[in-house]
Amino acid sequence: MQFKNFDVDHFLREHWQKQPLLIRNPWVEWTNPLEPDELAGLACEDGVEARMVKLDRARWKLEDGPFPEEKFAKLGAKRWTLLVQAVDQLVPQVAALIEPFRFVPNWRIDDVMVSYATDGGGVGPHFDQYDVFLVQGLGRRRWQVGPLCDAQTELLPHDDLRLLANFQPTAEWVLEPGDILYVPPRFAHDGVALGDDCMTYSIGFRAPSRSELVSNWCDHVLAELDDDDRYADPDLARQANPGEIAPAALDQLHAMVSEALLDRAGFARWFGQYTSTPKYPDAIGEPDEPLTADQFRTRLAAGEPLHRNPASRFAFIRNAASLTLFVDGENLDCTPDTTPFAETLCGNDQVTFNPAEPVNAATIALIAALYDMGSVGFESED
Ligand code: SIN
Ligand code: CO
Repeated sequence: MQFKNFDVDHFLREHWQKQPLLIRNPWVEWTNPLEPDELAGLACEDGVEARMVKLDRARWKLEDGPFPEEKFAKLGAKRWTLLVQAVDQLVPQVAALIEPFRFVPNWRIDDVMVSYATDGGGVGPHFDQYDVFLVQGLGRRRWQVGPLCDAQTELLPHDDLRLLANFQPTAEWVLEPGDILYVPPRFAHDGVALGDDCMTYSIGFRAPSRSELVSNWCDHVLAELDDDDRYADPDLARQANPGEIAPAALDQLHAMVSEALLDRAGFARWFGQYTSTPKYPDAIGEPDEPLTADQFRTRLAAGEPLHRNPASRFAFIRNAASLTLFVDGENLDCTPDTTPFAETLCGNDQVTFNPAEPVNAATIALIAALYDMGSVGFESED
């Protein structure tokens, strides 16, 4: 699915990570993919990450889900917002909202959060560390956008919410169903529902912080190191002052650290696994029964599409031999036989084989491995 009248190259050049942009309904035909009561139903389920933000007598309050069903009946006319995380993993029609944004690589995509607000509801002025496309689903919302913030920006004292103490909007728009507001990282923003039944779909991205990368990469490097791998000086030369740490010793010590940390191939392999680790691993269950190679062959030859588990993460990195496929924190080395399938799987949420072309044995084995992990499946079992 692509947007009408939306120039991706222009957007990437002028707006992505640079400037907010209001995109007036670019969908071929906008239909709100989820009803408010369906969202409320999800917020009552165990294992679903849901929050509620209320503005009660000028005080912001946050409550974590899951919520009892009766809660929604008791809320009355107060200003409140319900937020549910990763709805794309639960509702295929919500996952479909990501498709027009696939010009951003998969590994940068986080999830789709869905909010529902009553008149005047919102989460308050704040900034996020990530890019977001705010798709207005139902009802109307007034969005105000302000300047770039940073770690020094003053926040209101609050235990759970990071709200701006002084929000000075510089632009303002009213969004109608189908309209989209793009907000780059750290731009202040505040959305207030105009009327009840205001639903917003936040297509959120992720970007690792340097500290997160260094810390996790170092943990990985450390786990691989051997205690026998140690400083050695079999060619020790006498030095004038025994108190000096000689430059040659320092060079060797420094090389021990930098060689371990600068291993590019090792880093690529680690990062693929790290970034494909699922956010909600409990949503990826192993199948009740494995299928035989013949069963896979028959079903694929019948044109049955193989679906990616919406909670699974897929990526690949090219290497000298072919490529390494990363799925849900595992790495699977591909050969030229399995590479076409791996590439198709990473670029599409489902794969259908041409019944006229038999699937090679290595690809069947790869599909079986992914099936056993719970990362792919056939629709009839979902
Ligand atoms: C909302 O949907 O109300 C909040 C989304 C955001 O500001 O990031
Ligand atoms: Co935000």
